[in-house]
Amino acid sequence: MSTPPTTSQFGAPVASDDHSLTAGPDGATALHDRYLVEKLAQFNRERTPERVVHAKGGGAFGEFRVTGDVSAYTRAAVFQPGAVTESLLRFSSVAGEQGSPDTWRDVRGFALKFYTTEGNLDIVGNNTPVFFIRDAMKFPDFIHSQKRLPGSGLRDADMQWDFWTLSPESAHQVTYLMGDRGLPTSWRHMQGYGSHTYQWINADGERFWVKYHFASRQGVEPLAADEAERIAGADADHYRRDLYDAIAQGDFPSWDLSVQVMPYADAKTYRFNPFDLTKVWPHGDYPRIPVGTLTLNRNPENFFAQIEQAAFSPANTVPGVDISPDKMLMARVFSYPDAQRYRIGTNHAEVPVNAPHAAPVHNYSQDGAGRHGFKPATAPVYAPNSFGGPVADPVAAGDGGWESDGELVRTAATLHAEDDDFGQAGTLYRDVFSDGEKTRFVQTLTGQAQSITVPAIRERFFQYWTNVDAALGATLRQSAGA
Ligand code: HEM
Repeated sequence: MSTPPTTSQFGAPVASDDHSLTAGPDGATALHDRYLVEKLAQFNRERTPERVVHAKGGGAFGEFRVTGDVSAYTRAAVFQPGAVTESLLRFSSVAGEQGSPDTWRDVRGFALKFYTTEGNLDIVGNNTPVFFIRDAMKFPDFIHSQKRLPGSGLRDADMQWDFWTLSPESAHQVTYLMGDRGLPTSWRHMQGYGSHTYQWINADGERFWVKYHFASRQGVEPLAADEAERIAGADADHYRRDLYDAIAQGDFPSWDLSVQVMPYADAKTYRFNPFDLTKVWPHGDYPRIPVGTLTLNRNPENFFAQIEQAAFSPANTVPGVDISPDKMLMARVFSYPDAQRYRIGTNHAEVPVNAPHAAPVHNYSQDGAGRHGFKPATAPVYAPNSFGGPVADPVAAGDGGWESDGELVRTAATLHAEDDDFGQAGTLYRDVFSDGEKTRFVQTLTGQAQSITVPAIRERFFQYWTNVDAALGATLRQSAGA
């Protein structure tokens, strides 16, 4: 088999991949060795900044197949009976950096892109149905507290628990995190959630509030804490490898999507504020309605091009799907494309993994660093125009929206009848955790208590868990020797 000659990036054959051009065998290197310069310069620029959160991850392509009928609730093509849509799912951990061990305790990201015939729909969720905070203003502070100290560059239990115990709305999510959800056996063995309340709009323009649930067909299995610690040292890429190997061997993982649907008008009077991301809607109130199945069946061919450069955003919605007045979600639709303009570039939407695969793009955006697509020379470059350029169509867009009126204020969202910070966390601990999970949970929290060095934070830790469940608080005081 003949191999092609190596060329520069501009296609001209080059002389050597072994030797730089020097003045004699032992002399100075010539700056005009342009292949050497090109090779070193390209290497220096191989990295894009890692994601500011969810830096360590992995993913795969697949298809989403609708088996149910939710056409009464949404007109979105991707959710119509029988629809099959190419998809991309990226899993991640939140706090660790690119090379961090997969099996450190953390919430896991579950970021999904549907390449629909009406544009890309992204559902950028986690393996838990709730989150630590309910106002985006706190997000950078929260993440700082989970990452590293500025001086030592070390992670620090004091600042993690300082933030959490000063932010009581975190209790529900921290209960999930310190329970079995914080250490899944693999990405294949965990659930996915949209977490936020989203909006669906049907063909008649009727609006509904929805929550997405992806149930793993592989089952949900926890990893024992000591085993997770061992794996963290032995194979930092344990989850990434597991997913890749399973798909390479034809063992395709899948998730069943169901949705909870709340009639639009219920939002005002429901016992929990339905736009509070720290709350779930108990299934007895709004049962899950089956929608379809997502199956991952294709590994990336190039990790950097297709996974590292993948840009997921809650701003990517399609006709029949919209956001809700969840303060976190409204800020996320700004934050993600902003992060991606910095991380990947102005034209990140042109990168093949991010561009729509099943819908055309027609608009008046142009130019910018790295742009390679362009329209015919005669295409109009502004709107409105008299030359047949695309025209925005509110009916095609199918936005939802909601009524909104009031002074501009900086205040918490309206509390509903049963809203508080600790109630649902207590229910999760008492009524959802199995006896085994309760035991593991107490062991984990005992270890956490012992890692807190500031007495005032330690005391708040016990009070926080006492607020979740009085008996739990007492057990922890005892087990941690407080
Ligand atoms: C206001 C709150 C939040 C802000 C400002 C925020 C911001 C960000 C940013 C800037 C990124 C990196 C994006 C990139 O570089 O491509 C990111 C990634 C991510 N976030 Fe958030 N986030 C927030 C809340 C959440 C919540 C509530 C969830 C889940 C329910 C979530 C799930 C994820 C996931 C899964 C990723 C990784 C996406 C991927 O795989 O590329 N985030 N977030």
